[in-house]
Amino acid sequence: MRIPIMSGNWKMYKTPAETTAFFAKFRPLVEKSSHCEIVICPPFTNLDAAVAAVKGSNIRVGAQNIGWAKEGAFTGEISGPMILAVGASHAIIGHSERRQYFNETDETVLKRTQAALEFGLTPIVCVGELLADRESGHTEAVLAAQFQKGIAGLTEQQFAKIVIAYEPVWAIGTGKTATPEIAADTHRAIRAQVRGKFGKDAADSVRILYGGSVKPDNARILMAQPEIDGVLVGGAALDPVSFASIVNF
Ligand code: PGA
Repeated sequence: MRIPIMSGNWKMYKTPAETTAFFAKFRPLVEKSSHCEIVICPPFTNLDAAVAAVKGSNIRVGAQNIGWAKEGAFTGEISGPMILAVGASHAIIGHSERRQYFNETDETVLKRTQAALEFGLTPIVCVGELLADRESGHTEAVLAAQFQKGIAGLTEQQFAKIVIAYEPVWAIGTGKTATPEIAADTHRAIRAQVRGKFGKDAADSVRILYGGSVKPDNARILMAQPEIDGVLVGGAALDPVSFASIVNF
């Protein structure tokens, strides 16, 4: 049984005060949501406020990135021990916006994933193809390359602790969701990669989330696909009512 993870990525939105206000509304709406794990990933500057606001609840807090070193001369980076020290438990790694605007590569995704695991955080590792890749029929090849150069560098023990998020870049923030069939097919392809490298048990147990224009009105149909083990939500996770309705699909 793969317990679904309903996760939110706030990107570069909200102040600490707005974070506190969000959770005041959101918490009661998901108090009984025991069918899934709930993870919200605010900007680093709000981790503290978020952890305080979810104390005693079923909601977990994650970062949106993680430095690969424990500490050192890495201006602008935040390390695993720092994230752990504020009480967060997860870290998104390799989001397409980091790949697109901040030179994130499969190699650095692997380093950050290894760091998250070393310091006891659960990595949510993002993969996904561009529109041009899909239109030219290269989706599976692109995903396979991302997998081989990134996640495949983990040991079996490390792999058992990660979560994968499949986010087609053409569906992020565009209002164009992948159809449930496209998402499920692609999840199957990713799971086949996992099976090839880490074996059947690993493939059967890894949770693969879908992300890209998930909204309250399409969450149910996406979650109805047995291949989809949860969601990573951007825009619709900023509003407590809409994210709660996604969580409670
Ligand atoms: P979106 O973003 O839900 O706004 O499309 C998803 C993501 O980037 O994780």
